[in-house]
Amino acid sequence: MSIRRLPEHLVNRIAAGEVVERPASALKELVENAIDAGAHSIVVRLADGGIGGIEVIDDGCGMGPDDIALALERHATSKLPDDAIERVATLGFRGEALPSIASVATLTIESRVRGGEGWRRVIDNGRLTAEGPAALPPGTRVKVEGLFARVPARAKFLRSGRAEYAACVDVIRRLAMARPEIGFTLEHDGRRAIAVQPDETRPERVAALIDRELVRNSITVDHVREGIRLGGVAGLPTFSRGVADHQYLFVNGRPVKDRLLIGSVRAAYQDLLARDRHPVLALFLEVPAEEVDVNVHPAKTEVRFREAGLVRGLIVGGLRAALDSAGHRSAQQPSAGSLGRWQTEPMAPQWAPSRPPAQGSVWDNVPDYMPAPAARAEMAHAPAPTPVEHPLGVARGQVAATYIVAEASDGLILVDQHAAHERLVLERMRRAMAAGAVARQALLLPEVVELDEPGCDRLEARTTELAEMGLELERFGPKAMLVRATPALLGASDARQLVIDLADELAAYDEALSLKEKLDAIAGTMACHGSVRAGRILSVAEMNALLREMEVTPHSGQCNHGRPTWIKLGHGDIEKLFGRK
Ligand SMILES: Nc1ncnc2c1ncn2[C@@H]1O[C@H](COP(=O)(O)OP(=O)(O)OP(=O)(O)O)[C@@H](O)[C@H]1O
Ligand SMILES: [Mg+2]
Repeated sequence: MSIRRLPEHLVNRIAAGEVVERPASALKELVENAIDAGAHSIVVRLADGGIGGIEVIDDGCGMGPDDIALALERHATSKLPDDAIERVATLGFRGEALPSIASVATLTIESRVRGGEGWRRVIDNGRLTAEGPAALPPGTRVKVEGLFARVPARAKFLRSGRAEYAACVDVIRRLAMARPEIGFTLEHDGRRAIAVQPDETRPERVAALIDRELVRNSITVDHVREGIRLGGVAGLPTFSRGVADHQYLFVNGRPVKDRLLIGSVRAAYQDLLARDRHPVLALFLEVPAEEVDVNVHPAKTEVRFREAGLVRGLIVGGLRAALDSAGHRSAQQPSAGSLGRWQTEPMAPQWAPSRPPAQGSVWDNVPDYMPAPAARAEMAHAPAPTPVEHPLGVARGQVAATYIVAEASDGLILVDQHAAHERLVLERMRRAMAAGAVARQALLLPEVVELDEPGCDRLEARTTELAEMGLELERFGPKAMLVRATPALLGASDARQLVIDLADELAAYDEALSLKEKLDAIAGTMACHGSVRAGRILSVAEMNALLREMEVTPHSGQCNHGRPTWIKLGHGDIEKLFGRK
């Protein structure tokens, strides 16, 4: 496609503003050009975070000498063939990037079309300083040096090489995620920082750029509604992070930063994660081109949806459906760190007496060396395990009255009974709420709970909703509430503590959450009260019942705070611990 100057009426419609703010924005423009040129492989070299130099080499379509000259003019582009700025299919569309960069740096561009000769042009802060033949394979090589070196007002806003480098990595990561069919290499100060092969699948590419472990700890999202498709990879809640630094959104193959995404993701994971944990995910929206305006930001990092509500609903609904399908899955393996600790536990002295037994049987001395029994294991008299039917295995015993030990066909499973049960109660409560049928249990003697006045006010304002959830409350003077009934699901739980916790909960979240989110938070607090405490001895039958229910309950892989409810030590891991592998 040849390059032409855009007509005046289009130029005037292009979002105005600074195209190049820092090395990462110049880098983004150059790599986008390489992608638009149909490259199969893109190599990026940076010096000192791009401050010392940026080089981008592609094997795309290349340009002949005349096109190179045009490409460096403002508003000359090959990418809007029919002036349709409402339907942009390429990353670039304004013909502004190269001239903008060349006006604040020394830009060397070398390019060659297949079957043609290579040509070079050098522009130094807007002035052509050299031009002539160049030797290079088909494709394009662009070098940017001395960015802002002659624009002191801009240079002073450059940050350290390290900070600029981090921004460059983010640019490459996003563009490489958007295009798994293209190979990308990033070298920084001569060291290879990123190398991804061409023709990867999307989940492979996302995991390669974020964390290899993501493959086993994520679910695939694929959801279509009203002509919009949401695809991608969503990390399991148990694979969350302390900061929201790994959340990526792409619209029609274009990386975008969007507040809509942040809010939608928070809503979708709302009851699966503690408030200070953030999921890892990469979401790809495919939207009819006329539903989205890409011409709203000078650096092309934001888009505007015609129907933002529809998109938000799709993200929340699609993510939620995918997470629901994850069932009892959690981050399946103990981390390498915790395995390591297990391995190095100094067990030996307890089992091998350092002094010889004095008299009599060796067992006489056992009380000296054995640790006090902290675990109680009840033999499971269950039939031989049929683990194929039971992913979480068959209960073999209970440790520290807190963890269930189960045997599955491929390893040992440890379940945190409180965390697991809490999730089961929440899911049961949700189902009952959805069916409008939360059973209540009337208290024989209504209980008076004393609270501060604002706490009582908050609870009183919510009595209707709380009653729908099975908790019947009445105001009882300025500083007390009367509890008449509690949700039957919760069994004989402590009504007083429940009411106090709910008042706290409402104080913390009342303004921040939507009604639905609030109800969920309340259900979570209730579930916590109704669940099996750590420290309760369970019978084998109770343990097996818990395992079976977990297998069929959505989200049972994590407790209401996003911690795993169970972990598996695979046969392979056990063999490693014993040095057999
Ligand atoms: N790496 C490349 N390979 C082949 N052609 C290129 C390359 N880089 C730029 N071009 C050509 O030069 C033109 C101008 O590039 P430039 O980045 O300035 O504008 P654009 O990509 O058209 O729009 P935008 O300003 O939105 O990026 C492009 O339209 C394209 O035809
Ligand atoms: Mg461009």
